[in-house]
Amino acid sequence: MRNWALIATLLAAFIAGPANADPIVIKFSHVVAENTPKGKMANRFKQLAEERLPGKVVVEVYPNSQLFGDNKVLEAMLLGDVQIGAPSLSKFSRYTPALDVFDLPFLFKDLAAVDRFQKSPEGQAMLDSMRDKGLIGLGYLHNGMKQMSAYSPLRVPADVKGKKFRVQTSDVLVAQFEILGGTAVKKPFSEVFTLLQTKAIDGTENPWSNTFSKKFFEVQPYITETDHGVLDYMVVTSAEFWLGLPDDIRAELSKAMDEAVAYGNEVALEQAVQDRQAIIDSGRSEVIALTPEERAQWVDAMRPVWAQFEAAIGKDMIEKALAANNE
Ligand code: SIN
Repeated sequence: MRNWALIATLLAAFIAGPANADPIVIKFSHVVAENTPKGKMANRFKQLAEERLPGKVVVEVYPNSQLFGDNKVLEAMLLGDVQIGAPSLSKFSRYTPALDVFDLPFLFKDLAAVDRFQKSPEGQAMLDSMRDKGLIGLGYLHNGMKQMSAYSPLRVPADVKGKKFRVQTSDVLVAQFEILGGTAVKKPFSEVFTLLQTKAIDGTENPWSNTFSKKFFEVQPYITETDHGVLDYMVVTSAEFWLGLPDDIRAELSKAMDEAVAYGNEVALEQAVQDRQAIIDSGRSEVIALTPEERAQWVDAMRPVWAQFEAAIGKDMIEKALAANNE
């Protein structure tokens, strides 16, 4: 009789599953401030995931390079030290050269064109292009079009000559300054403010929300509204972690991520307008608008960079991206 009771208890426990199983801890590491499109998206993902999977999932968000700098996060992900990140698209060159298409200067006319390309079959295929390297893209997140900033006004391409700029870890971005007669140094995002403040570099490029939230405008008296390229993100996870999750949990997390990204994309549009205005209102930095003639000079000077990377990126991919401007 005692044996039957024991068997019944064990059976009930087996059917109910492990009591008080430890929640799955998801570390989400990023490098920007919390009041940015990426910062707000990450916090929204945490809120949605924990609300919908109470006790099953805990999301720990680490902003401002607190856990990993942007040059380390993908390695850390492959080692299982972090589960989700959203590096800028310029930081994936080592894993897939096709993503360099997003860095080509003056390729996309605006963020809407970038969005259309990301949603195209080619854009969606890129989310899956690093699976053999152990990474899965969960979606694209916008930040915005980039502006160039410096200690002296940059009105025409010749103004870049002899100046040193910080860029992300992308050879395309190095080439875009070299073709103008400047130099470029690849440095982590966390070092940019100090490099500018100490005048170790003359300038940089970033969208409005990064320039505002990291106070670059306080140490860059001139910002030229070039809109010469895009800074967007791929939300990425480790294939081992993601595919190892129970199906129901993965499905719920995937839904939460889609909603968080949609929210982050709305924030990106609003924040670009607000942060640009806040920089102008601060009076710390002059925002230079280009005339159509000046802008044409920048386009002519920088477009030859495309040819340098055409073989690695693929001519078809560049054409598909270009076509998104006219859809
Ligand atoms: C980011 O927005 O995640 C950082 C961009 C940069 O490194 O300039």
